[in-house]
Amino acid sequence: MTQPMNPQPPLPTVLEPVGEPAGGSAPTRRDVMDYAIGVVAATAAVAAAYPAVRFLSPVPTGKGGPVTLRLADVPKGTVTLATAGERSVLVVHNDEGAVRAFSATCPHLGCGLRWDEDERLIRCGCHGGRFGMDGRVVSGPPPRALTELTVDMVGDKVVVT
Ligand code: FES
Repeated sequence: MTQPMNPQPPLPTVLEPVGEPAGGSAPTRRDVMDYAIGVVAATAAVAAAYPAVRFLSPVPTGKGGPVTLRLADVPKGTVTLATAGERSVLVVHNDEGAVRAFSATCPHLGCGLRWDEDERLIRCGCHGGRFGMDGRVVSGPPPRALTELTVDMVGDKVVVT
């Protein structure tokens, strides 16, 4: 006995709805717009609050463990960024040979500072604050000079505390 050839699968007897979300109706255009507006508003609120929070929080003064480097690594007439752990300091070896050190944290909102050899200024990349080698504000929003740190010369080493 031969089996009848049936190339087609049997048709379902009951049609069930497909694509319905579980637990409710599909979101409306208004729901999507409300959600998008909420995301934009939350983002704007965080962006507006961040500078205020940074301004009100204490600015790190660079206090911490000592930072030690060789005087030979701080050429005369330059500023060198030195770090030890999470602490960063700017060591200034001015044209007259004096060595001073400042916190490498901007007194405006706490961003990191760097030495700009071309302009011969200490610069903050966040809001354009600029400082001279003496730590005083040259331009920009910083409200005060850089925090000066204690420098001790121990042999050929510069120790900043
Ligand atoms: S953090 Fe604003 S100028 Fe440095």
